[in-house]
Amino acid sequence: MTVSLGNQDRPADLEAAILDLKREKGAVILAHFYQESEVQELADIVGDSLALARAAQEIDCKMIVFCGVHFMAETAAILNPGIPVVVPDMDAGCSLADGCPPEEFKAFVADHPGAKVLTYINASAGVKAMSDLICTSSNAVKMVEHFEGEKLIFAPDRHLARWVAKETGRDDLIVWQGACIVHELFSAKGLAKLRAQHPDAEVLAHPECDQAVLDQADFIASTTGIISRAVASPDRPSIIATEDGVFHSIMKQAPGKVLYQAPGMDESCVCNRCPYMRLNTLEKLYDCLASEGPCVTVPEELAKQALLPIEKMLALS
Ligand code: 13P
Ligand code: SF4
Repeated sequence: MTVSLGNQDRPADLEAAILDLKREKGAVILAHFYQESEVQELADIVGDSLALARAAQEIDCKMIVFCGVHFMAETAAILNPGIPVVVPDMDAGCSLADGCPPEEFKAFVADHPGAKVLTYINASAGVKAMSDLICTSSNAVKMVEHFEGEKLIFAPDRHLARWVAKETGRDDLIVWQGACIVHELFSAKGLAKLRAQHPDAEVLAHPECDQAVLDQADFIASTTGIISRAVASPDRPSIIATEDGVFHSIMKQAPGKVLYQAPGMDESCVCNRCPYMRLNTLEKLYDCLASEGPCVTVPEELAKQALLPIEKMLALS
């Protein structure tokens, strides 16, 4: 649970106070591209899941403040057990990680004797501990190729699994049927309409999207890949089928760029904003730095087991 201070207990200039506290406490702020712009602006490192895991492994500081979701902070705690990892909001979960409980996953693995287990980083430490290798959206194809000729479980995202199966020609993956509630809600029909209105625009999509959306994409990649591609052609408009937190980084690097967000199924909601990522606010960032909590911890034995497949991924990528 996050302990929040009342507004009266916080300084008026929150940004300056956060930077002061960060220096005072020897903290480093890591943030994912789906964070609010003002949070990204205060971070020492902003990145995708792979870059943030690498940063967490290499960092030397007194405290890591992880502005992302729980599985990312947990991964940082596993990779760098000597440094406390605090988060602005302990409730910032992920539909993929939450939809794959370790006990159910254990039974799923037991149902497929002899299969190797490749797990997307969007999973709990308990599920990672049962895995042979971890992947992110930026290295999933390479990690699947690592298991050539072997029976292979892929968990927990069925959309990433389908995309990676297509890319690698592996039509025999044993797939845990989870999904991202944000990427699954892009509308293929709405996207077709938007493309017709902007025929010069390039469609950039995240592989967590449904196939009907990916079928219309010119380029499919992780958040880092999408940002780099958009920035590489500053004069060509892009239609973005991922969380619109990535707009901040694109606009910083290519200020004149025209961007369109791919529409959601329900035009009246902002369902393509990750409700978990967006739980982190400047106020909660200040509170967690001030109180040095809440802290994400992983039991030592579990952390040791989960570390092996994560380290293997980092070595292979
Ligand atoms: P990447 O930033 O690694 O592409 O992941 C996207 C995502 O949905 C994180 O939860
Ligand atoms: Fe999880 Fe989807 Fe949010 Fe990423 S965007 S953290 S996959 S719910």
